[in-house]
Amino acid sequence: MITDTAEFVKRVDGAASYIREALSGRELPSVCIVLGSGLGPLSSMAEDAMEIPYKDIPGFPVSTAPGHKGCLLAGTLSGRPVFMMNGRFHYYEGYPMETVTFYVRVMGRLGVKALFLTNASGGINPDYKVPELVAITDHLSFNAEPVLRGPNITEFGTRFPDQCHVYDPGLTDLLVNCARDLKIRISRGLYAYSKGPQYETPAEIRALRIMGADCVGMSTVPEAIAASHMGIRVAAMSCITNMAAGMTGNPLSEQEVLDNARLASDNSCALVKEFVKRLEV
Ligand code: HPA
Repeated sequence: MITDTAEFVKRVDGAASYIREALSGRELPSVCIVLGSGLGPLSSMAEDAMEIPYKDIPGFPVSTAPGHKGCLLAGTLSGRPVFMMNGRFHYYEGYPMETVTFYVRVMGRLGVKALFLTNASGGINPDYKVPELVAITDHLSFNAEPVLRGPNITEFGTRFPDQCHVYDPGLTDLLVNCARDLKIRISRGLYAYSKGPQYETPAEIRALRIMGADCVGMSTVPEAIAASHMGIRVAAMSCITNMAAGMTGNPLSEQEVLDNARLASDNSCALVKEFVKRLEV
């Protein structure tokens, strides 16, 4: 938990200054895309790209999750400057929440106005078909360590931020409209956060279904909360890489998640590109 807010803000601003200098004269992007499982290929679709390894950015953690590279990319996608986070930080890796969301704070201080979060999740809604895409409209975070616990950092946002629209309705509509125009199947869904790293039990999945959850995953929610605290508009898209625990009789495996995320990769990348093209921020 953060105790010295001034020191924390200084750390965030130190990372932001480093990135601003590394971009040396390029236009600062107003959008940041977080590349979850299956979105890795998007990083090679950016033009004029420069990569900044996380290990070079002061204060940045280094991601350890499999399939997650560790660098920030700045480039042009669909004709507009973007940041891409190639690799994110998860609570299950052992980081405290302020570290998991550190990059969101840095993006906010760099002037990013829209954060596009992508992830892989397990389908709880029985109508879902692997590997379809879901536009996340809301979340259940009962199971998350509280991201904003500790003294409030007023430079970032208010003490008790409203959570009615963590996922910006306008951006979510845009995502769904882009999918419709590209003839990619997407539904709107409620994402339940799971701390991980173990998958859920069948009983937990039954409980989440009763609570209305459509899918479950181990990322995104902390970042969305930090972004909404700062007034950054959030869009989030999930790839259903497996049916959740107990739904098929098969055990869950990381390989299944990675394989199905890869199967959806063309659609996911096409959709993000179209979204960025039509985004107005
Ligand atoms: N549970 C939690 N996280 C996940 C899952 C799941 O079933 N699939 C992909 N990420």
